[in-house]
Parts: sequence; C-alpha cells; structure tokens
Amino acid sequence: MEINKNIYENTEVIKDYRSDSDSEDLYVVMKGALETQRTRNKKTSETNSPRSRCYRLTAVCLCLLCVLLLTVIIVLWVKLQTTYNSLTAERDQLKRKADVCCHESKEEASRQGWRYFNSSMYYVFTGRKNWNESRQDCRERGADLVIINSREEQEFLSQHLGSSQAWIGLTDTDSEGVWKWVDGTALTTGYWSSGEPNSLVGDEDCVVYDFGPNTTWNWADYPCTRNFIWICEKTFFC
Ligand code: BGC
Ligand code: CA
Repeated sequence: MEINKNIYENTEVIKDYRSDSDSEDLYVVMKGALETQRTRNKKTSETNSPRSRCYRLTAVCLCLLCVLLLTVIIVLWVKLQTTYNSLTAERDQLKRKADVCCHESKEEASRQGWRYFNSSMYYVFTGRKNWNESRQDCRERGADLVIINSREEQEFLSQHLGSSQAWIGLTDTDSEGVWKWVDGTALTTGYWSSGEPNSLVGDEDCVVYDFGPNTTWNWADYPCTRNFIWICEKTFFC
C-alpha cells in the first residue's frame, strides 16, 4: 500500500512538470505502473471477497466429504469381505460335518439291512399293517413309504426285496382317480398290473406292489384298511 501511495504521489508530482518531454514519458510510464497496481489490487480484493471465500470453503468441504465417503466405503468393503470369508469357511465346515453324518447314517442303515439304490435306501417291513399305519412306521424311522420314480427303481425293488404284496407311497384318497405320491407329487408313470386300478371292492385308494413273477407291471389298488407288509424308502444326499 505504501508503494502504491508513493507511485501515486510521484505521478501527481510529475504531472505538474509534464511540459518537459522526458517528464511526459516518465508520466506515462508511472501512470501505466499505477494502473497495473490498481488492477492487481482490484483482483486481490475480489479474491478475498466473502463470496469467493465461501466458494473455497464449499470446495474444501466437498473434498473432505469425498475423502470421508471413500474411507467409509473401503472400511465397509473390508468388513464385508471378512464376514463373507468367515461365513464361507463356516459353511464349508458344516457341509463337511453334514457329509460325515450322512455317511455314518447310511452305514448304520446298511448294517440294519436297508438296501441301497441310487441315493436311496429301502427296507421291506414284514409285520402287517394298514396303509396309514405303515406310513406312520416309515416316518418314525426317518423314512416314508416308497416313491417309485423310474423303471430301474421299480425293477430294483423286485430283484432285491421280499415276496408277497407290500404297500407303496401312492394314494388317490384326496381325489378319486388322481394318484399322488406321499411327497405330494403326481404320478407320471404307473406300473399297474393288467386291469388295475379297478376299485374292485369299492374304495380302493391305496396301492400295493406285488412281489410276484411280473417284476415290472405289478401294482394294484386296494382298500387302504387292508393289512399288508410295507416298503420304506430313505433318501440320502451324500
Ligand atoms: C384284485 C385287485 C382287487 C383286490 C380286492 C385282487 O384279486 O386283483 O384288483 O383290488 O383283489 O381284494
Ligand atoms: Ca384293485
């Protein structure tokens, strides 16, 4: 400010003697310098105006916010990754335990005489019960009455299991003529004996597997209250 003041004063002084041509030149130079200084001062005062200070503050705040957000995102991501890793490890361990448990149950069932075929084990129980009691017995053993999903399964039963007629897990109790397995699925392929199902003695809503000479076409509908042996099936996922 002091320098500006001097330049100004000097210019004013020089102005008084501008009749001289050197003084005239000096006057122009000094005036130019003064103008430059004034412009600079103006710019400085604009840069320090409350509005520009406000802009600067906002920019700084935004930068800080960005840094903060980035930090939060990184921390959360690391945490998430750690949780994911530990959950994956836990899941794998549980899977291994379940697998061991499953194999042990299979071995135990095998020791008790259950026969293995295609992820399932089967047993023919030889006490005689009606269809509901038979089903109940299977369930108490962690199984259910057998569901036959393929010709291979149908024929496996006759090759490996017993004689006589045995209850299987098929019934049309809910709706006459609509055959359903015990897991609620609809019958797609039936291995009925010739002439079956025939509801010969009235209500014949449950199905037996006849361990006779025909190893494929051997089902018949019977009244659910009749007593037969029964076939249980347990499924293993190991
Ligand atoms: C027939 C079955 C019938 C049953 C009734 C059998 O001889 O083959 O179709 O359901 O008798 O007792
Ligand atoms: Ca019948």
